Amino acid sequence: MSELISRAQELDAADQLAALRARFVLDEAVYLDGNSLGALPAAVPGRMQDVVRRQWGSLRIRSWDESGWWTAPERIGDRIAPLVGAAPGQIVVGDSTSVNVFKALVAAVRLATGSGDGREEILVDATTFPTDGYIAGSAARMTGCTLRPVAPAEVPGALSGRTAAVLLNHVDYRTGRLHDLPGLTAAVHDAGAVAVWDLCHSAGALPVGLDEHGVDLAVGCTYKYLNGGPGSPAYLYVRRDLQDRFDSPLPGWNSHAEPFGMRTDYEPAAGAPRGRVGTPDILSMLALEAALEVWDGVSIEAVRAKSLALTDFFLECVAAYVPEGTVESLTPAAHPERGSQVALRCTGAGDVMKRLIASGVVGDFRPPDVLRFGFTPLYVGFADVERAARVLAETLA
Ligand SMILES: Cc1ncc(COP(=O)(O)O)c(C=O)c1O
Repeated sequence: MSELISRAQELDAADQLAALRARFVLDEAVYLDGNSLGALPAAVPGRMQDVVRRQWGSLRIRSWDESGWWTAPERIGDRIAPLVGAAPGQIVVGDSTSVNVFKALVAAVRLATGSGDGREEILVDATTFPTDGYIAGSAARMTGCTLRPVAPAEVPGALSGRTAAVLLNHVDYRTGRLHDLPGLTAAVHDAGAVAVWDLCHSAGALPVGLDEHGVDLAVGCTYKYLNGGPGSPAYLYVRRDLQDRFDSPLPGWNSHAEPFGMRTDYEPAAGAPRGRVGTPDILSMLALEAALEVWDGVSIEAVRAKSLALTDFFLECVAAYVPEGTVESLTPAAHPERGSQVALRCTGAGDVMKRLIASGVVGDFRPPDVLRFGFTPLYVGFADVERAARVLAETLA
């Protein structure tokens, strides 16, 4: 047996989180695509049966009150809150990440320019996931701002008294690079601007510390490391002391102070509900709520420690098995700069990934030449990691 196989066995035996894998529905495949779509938590099918048959089928309209449908966006937001370092009452679940990016960024510009001090520029992460860039372009046109794409590391030098808002990705979706949220948020604040963070690739994989680092606004999806299911609703964080000034560009009846008053004038609700828009997608929302039960008793710090051990071990196995020069890691070697995925550049990456998947190792491909492997510490083990690197080497050979 190779030294790496026995090391993997030792690491799995010592892994305090190993038992959590039983909380998911998995098979023989090595699933390294939880950074795109998290695996199915075992509690979800039974819960959905109840939600559909009893809550919808039998209670029908009564479920808005009796099954807690109406308050689900805030209740589930409070369940996500500790995972991203937020106190209760600041997160609301609903809509897609794209829609929440729009709400947050326009509201950020309105917060920054509310005092009429002539701020007219939005900075956007030049390496962002595309939707954020498109929406930032539209938000800029709507608010009369100019848009400047800037690499996250260059943001401090690009900030000025003209900057209204800055939209950044916490972890780069392509390379897996983790950006300095505390440092960049502080720099944005020093310039008098408002920081909006996209947490899609960090929430559920590492501690975020939203309250601790004074983040203004944040958004994220729930179908990656939070395992909420395909298209499960996203969330919006608005720091408590900004909530009264949060002026949503999508005010709907669900964010009204008196939603059932059916008033013609708009009066925004207090607190997190102000981030709502219209009728929430209850089926997806309640699947997410069941999915979040896998976090019971799990510390995000332990998840981060295992995530780094998994990605370290993967890089070590790749270096041992794959001939030098065949793949190039785009993921930073330094722990403080690494999310929970490893991105490897190689020739013919699209075909390589197809063959990997056919051999039972599931990652994904991002054009033009990137293989992405996501490591979800709740259900990925060290033997999976060793096998993935070994199959990759066989595939490339
Ligand atoms: C970083 C990031 N932002 C935004 C999105 C878009 O999310 P949605 O399609 O749910 O609106 C994604 C999707 O993968 C993403 O990775």
